[in-house]
Amino acid sequence: MRTAAGERLEVLVSSHDIKTRVEQLGKRITADYDGKDLVLIGILKGSFVFIADLARAIDLPLAVDFMAVSSYGMSTQSSGVVRIVKDLDHSLDGKHVLVVEDIVDTGLTLNYIYGHLKSRGAMSVKICSLLDKVSRRQVAVPIHYKGFEIPDEFVVGYGLDVEERYRNLPDVCRVIKS
Ligand code: IMP
Repeated sequence: MRTAAGERLEVLVSSHDIKTRVEQLGKRITADYDGKDLVLIGILKGSFVFIADLARAIDLPLAVDFMAVSSYGMSTQSSGVVRIVKDLDHSLDGKHVLVVEDIVDTGLTLNYIYGHLKSRGAMSVKICSLLDKVSRRQVAVPIHYKGFEIPDEFVVGYGLDVEERYRNLPDVCRVIKS
């Protein structure tokens, strides 16, 4: 893909590997939620590509909803104090919720969302994240379904951005500034 001036991209997780892993996750989720009323909740914007592929890899009559949150404080660092800027459209009463996230970094954002959703009447709440930057974790969050563990590097693509760029890359790439 053409890049912005002074930036180079290097593939960290290829679209081929992502596709294979998403299919595996979809099969596991299909088996685990068979007979249950499942709703996937995508956290905007980063999860939009992942949730689109994951939803189609799950062979169940599921529902999809979205939440958008913003973190207070410095934009480059998660503060853990989260504001809901777009709430869910539907009630979670009686539903089994699977939160679909692009990446868990410090865990602060997801820790808040997880606690918040558990208080909203769902039968169960679990987490599925495509990427996990394990070495950056500040609070423990349970990632029930995980795509890939990655090193502590800033990545873009497959929904992830740097200043809104590169969400449309099919691979997950590291950004190298020159
Ligand atoms: P946490 O609260 O530190 O876990 O932050 C999670 C959020 O930070 C993710 O949902 C992303 O929006 C963003 N983020 C963390 N690491 C990266 C990265 O490497 N690339 C792009 N966004 C990231």
